[in-house]
Amino acid sequence: MSDKPHDAAPPLVQLWSRDGFQGALSVVTRATYAPDYLSVQGPHAPRRAVLERLTPDDQDDPEALPTTVATSRLGVKLHVSGRRKPMPYVVRNVEADEIHFIQSGTVRFETDVGCLTATEGDFVCIPRSVAYRYAPTGDAMRSIIVESPSALKLAPPAPSGMLNVARDLKFAEVDAAMPAGGPTRLVLKTLDPENTVFTMPHDPLALGMCLSESVPVWKLNLASIQVHAYLPEGGPPSQFLSSTTGDLLMFNLSARPGGRPPVHINADFDEVICYVRGPGAWGGCTEPGTLTCVPKGVIHHGPSEDVPEGYQAWLLETRATLRWTPKAIAASELMETGQYRPHPGVGK
Ligand SMILES: [Fe+2]
Repeated sequence: MSDKPHDAAPPLVQLWSRDGFQGALSVVTRATYAPDYLSVQGPHAPRRAVLERLTPDDQDDPEALPTTVATSRLGVKLHVSGRRKPMPYVVRNVEADEIHFIQSGTVRFETDVGCLTATEGDFVCIPRSVAYRYAPTGDAMRSIIVESPSALKLAPPAPSGMLNVARDLKFAEVDAAMPAGGPTRLVLKTLDPENTVFTMPHDPLALGMCLSESVPVWKLNLASIQVHAYLPEGGPPSQFLSSTTGDLLMFNLSARPGGRPPVHINADFDEVICYVRGPGAWGGCTEPGTLTCVPKGVIHHGPSEDVPEGYQAWLLETRATLRWTPKAIAASELMETGQYRPHPGVGK
């Protein structure tokens, strides 16, 4: 089984909490290390995947859309993209806001409201019904795309402090020269099994100028989001982004001082964490682009975040119950929930 943590001498504290870090809670002690499990069958199990081992469909087929990693009944989805060539069409997601996290590479986005170039560690927000296409500026890129049917907004705990909006939030801008172009396919992403494809007489992303003050497409780098800690004991992180319904939250979960999280059960939220890169390890996560998922109600501990050499990671909490797709299951492995290593006792 997983190594017993040095801070796991009995009696061990176990926390159950509602509404993520915000709601009611109970704390009990027990003599055994609760995250240990011998085996598991069924879909509601903790898993991990190293993104480099998952080949997205769009890596070799420019016509393909990103590969879906996880879906849910609430419409929250995760996808992975790995383009080497530009998109030969334009996409407008009419059912969800999208956050594109750039794990590696540099990506040029052209949208309905202007262009921006995103680099490693950037979150790019493309709200519902804003059309876009993107392309790597080099030979490769890897991104994780989060789809949220509920509108997403920056929601730090205070207007300043966690985010320096004036310095670090960058908006799409209208480039001077975007030719009108010829016939262009416009793909409307819906919840239907097949997409709806318009053929437009011109490039729908060819713009004149921006007349509004606000621009809905922005980018923000993970490294510029300050972490929030309670010292000296430690405590929960604070979200920098939230959906209007509060059913999807995102956090910077990079290295921070304070104590290790308690063994806990998150009653209402699935927890998806992306270990972005070191130099330090986050428990059992050492490979850049490691995606971990602990479904709601599954007891877990989690590695210490107090890693002096530092690492970068982000956390997605969602009330949606995520289900990994067959392709993602094939590229992933079961995970123990102490240090988030591959589970030692069972295969896939
Ligand atoms: Fe947790």
